[in-house]
Amino acid sequence: MTMTYKNSNQQAPLDAQCAPSHRLLLQKADASIRQAQPAVADTHRLHYHLMPQANWMNDPNGLVYYRGYYHVFYQHHPYSPNWGPMHWGHARTKDFLTWEHLPIALAPSENYDLDGCFSGSAVVEGDLLHLFYTGHRVIDGQLTQVQCRATSSDGIHFIKDKRNPLITSFPSDGSPDFRDPKVWQHQESWFMVLGSGKNGRGNVLLYKSKDLTQWDYVGVLAQSDGTQGTIWECPDLFLLGARHVLLVSPMGVENRRVMYFVGDMDYEAGKFSPQHVGTLDYGPDFYAAQTFSGTKRRLMLAWMDAWECHIPSKKDNWAGALTLPRELLLDESGKLKTQPLPELKGLRRRGVPAPTSVLVEKDQSLALTNPQAACLEMNLVVSLTSTTASHFTLCFSYAESSEQIVVGYNKVTGELYLDTSEVHAGQPGLYNAPIYPQGQSLDLRIFLDRSSIEVFAHEGAATITARIYPRSHTTVPILSALDGQIEVTSLACWNLAK
Ligand code: FRU
Repeated sequence: MTMTYKNSNQQAPLDAQCAPSHRLLLQKADASIRQAQPAVADTHRLHYHLMPQANWMNDPNGLVYYRGYYHVFYQHHPYSPNWGPMHWGHARTKDFLTWEHLPIALAPSENYDLDGCFSGSAVVEGDLLHLFYTGHRVIDGQLTQVQCRATSSDGIHFIKDKRNPLITSFPSDGSPDFRDPKVWQHQESWFMVLGSGKNGRGNVLLYKSKDLTQWDYVGVLAQSDGTQGTIWECPDLFLLGARHVLLVSPMGVENRRVMYFVGDMDYEAGKFSPQHVGTLDYGPDFYAAQTFSGTKRRLMLAWMDAWECHIPSKKDNWAGALTLPRELLLDESGKLKTQPLPELKGLRRRGVPAPTSVLVEKDQSLALTNPQAACLEMNLVVSLTSTTASHFTLCFSYAESSEQIVVGYNKVTGELYLDTSEVHAGQPGLYNAPIYPQGQSLDLRIFLDRSSIEVFAHEGAATITARIYPRSHTTVPILSALDGQIEVTSLACWNLAK
């Protein structure tokens, strides 16, 4: 049905103004997902994480609370389980427990974004929801990245701004890698950070605007010290308590782990001074973290995979997922803590029978539960004062195969680790996270889904996230003490449901 608007000063709803070519491309992309869905094999599908209905997903984008929903957009290739011209997939939730998939929000359709609508963010202005994204082009091998906006009045249909691109070229402090706008409001002004780099140093470039349309370059907000990556992607800057926190995802370093900087922001000078730098998650499958706009709490999601990693589910016609939603907090010493949202307790279905406290003697092992479906939350507190073992492990052993995942702790070095080398597919490896200060006890919260594990230690002072692809989905957690005893003072375990 075509709608006409007789009165010239009567505004058409925004979605009716969507350029026909963009609308058709969105319909085609949605149709591709519908067609691909029956061929998505269940083998490694997750039970309580957000993942694409079919085909490819990477970074979370446009995280925002708008009209009663947490909206999550994501980098999406609706035509194959491999990365390709990027669209923005879209889902929303009221409670982070159940997700509703919505029509694809953005498709590459214009001269300035024909090779992809790259990552970005969202802000609410009055009744409107604005998405900011990078228009990506590669012409004759030459990269052009520009900054664009699309707007919605219903949170579902978006029209690209006729004035796009709003930022047409990178400043002299940057390079053609110039992307991933994160926008926020401070006092009367809007600010935008962009990821870039110059002379082998990743950097974050700051822009300012009065109206979200005309953007003025302010300067380099922060940059690598020379060892922290050549290009910084997906920057995010926000106030947390009395401090500011900057997140960046680095390119050009061996371990592309998301870095966080805690420091102070001087809006007058347009400079951020970092005082503390840390690793946001020590696992291999955590990248492009972004926090939500429009929430009181600082809520974060990240892509639960990584570039250049092997993703076995591609053969099942899907790839990529997002982490559990996590809240960021600062501890007394000014370091960042990452905790699963309290809402996630709503995923707990059935308490798994397990002792509430356990003493495992030297050289002994103890199965903490009977075999369980591998969608579990396990919380345990180990007393470090009464534990005499220098080293202990919690091994998730898969019942019908010889596979296992090991979460271990070395009391001597104060290091937590995750060892995935005994799982047949995916990314085998050993991932260490320092726990500092050690304290009197060690608390662990472990979330196991069918093809993922997320470990939160020491109230979120360290986290390790990994994708795992075991052959079976039944597991037994076995606690082993090596050269002394281990005392677990509190233990609880739940089956988690879809
Ligand atoms: C980060 C990233 C972004 C880019 C997007 C493309 O993972 O490389 O910098 O916008 O992915 O899909």
